[in-house]
Amino acid sequence: MCEAKDRARVPLVYIVFSLSLIIKDALCLKNVAVFIEPDVVQYKDKSTLRCTYDLEDDVLYSVKWYRGSREFYRYIPAEQPSIKFFPIPGVTADLARSNSSQVVLKDIEFNLAGNFSCEVTTDGQNIHTRIDSKSMLVVQLPVHPPEISVGREPLDYGDILRANCSSYPSRPPADLKFILNGITVNQSEPAALRKQNTNDWSDLQLELKLSFIHFNEGRLALQCVAQVSSIYREVAELELESLRHPVPARVSAPSNAAARTSQKIEYTLRLAAYFLLFSMILGRNHY
Ligand SMILES: *[C@@H]1O[C@H](CO)[C@@H](O)[C@H](O)[C@H]1NC(C)=O
Ligand SMILES: *[C@@H]1O[C@H](CO)[C@@H](O)[C@H](O)[C@H]1NC(C)=O
Ligand SMILES: *[C@@H]1O[C@H](CO)[C@@H](O)[C@H](O)[C@H]1NC(C)=O
Ligand SMILES: *[C@@H]1O[C@H](CO)[C@@H](O)[C@H](O)[C@H]1NC(C)=O
Repeated sequence: MCEAKDRARVPLVYIVFSLSLIIKDALCLKNVAVFIEPDVVQYKDKSTLRCTYDLEDDVLYSVKWYRGSREFYRYIPAEQPSIKFFPIPGVTADLARSNSSQVVLKDIEFNLAGNFSCEVTTDGQNIHTRIDSKSMLVVQLPVHPPEISVGREPLDYGDILRANCSSYPSRPPADLKFILNGITVNQSEPAALRKQNTNDWSDLQLELKLSFIHFNEGRLALQCVAQVSSIYREVAELELESLRHPVPARVSAPSNAAARTSQKIEYTLRLAAYFLLFSMILGRNHY
């Protein structure tokens, strides 16, 4: 919505004035919106910052981009050159692909993460300014999937399952969780982070007293899931040695066939019994 500058008017003309304001409102700069794609950026990668707006009847004066409160890009069509870039540490701009509606950033470093704002200003008799903001996250992903190590095996009811899971260095450190037979298991607090340069290893320990509820037909399938922000999810999986062996499939197959045969016999017998009963009734009606 545009500002109303002269609210105080004599009541007589107020309605007419308000109406003209509503019409004016509908025809000035609006819908300024920022889109950052991607908004979770990998270290040294690139991202496109888009700024969309409807000028309606207004004339564009400038589009300015800020990282936090610091202006780094300015587009003014009336000036030559129309694009100005004010260098900020931790990024380069791809000016050939930047214009009034977007800025392409490349070689993005960690310190660039934060709040980005686009400010649009119009010219002429109606000077309006609208701003919108979105935030960007810079990450570095683990170079390998997580790894599980397990203590004593094989395992039985009453045994303690001990396992560790480690995820290779990343920034931010990966979130880890253990899943046993599809169910997340209660685990200790994550261990203190192990640093490697600017990144962190992630470690998690599991110590779980096993009971029959943890076994799935004798099987113990342990997974460790590592997640970094919304863009990374890797799973390590290990089939643990179990003393509660599952019933092998070939044993159950013949019993199924046997069940089917006995079902057939039962069906035939029932049919015969009905036939007998039916003919008896028919026979009795004869007399
Ligand atoms: C800005 O550049 C992008 C990519 O080259 C293009 O898709 C877009 O239409 C341009 N915007 C304007 C307003 O020229
Ligand atoms: C981002 O910057 C804009 C403009 O400076 C400000 O209004 C907004 O509150 C900031 N948002 C955050 C999350 O810091
Ligand atoms: C898990 O890590 C701890 C601490 O590093 C270590 O003492 C333990 O032996 C490890 N356990 C397994 C099963 O790898
Ligand atoms: C889960 O583990 C925490 C400590 O790691 C413990 O305080 C809590 O009682 C446990 N919950 C269950 C249901 O075992």
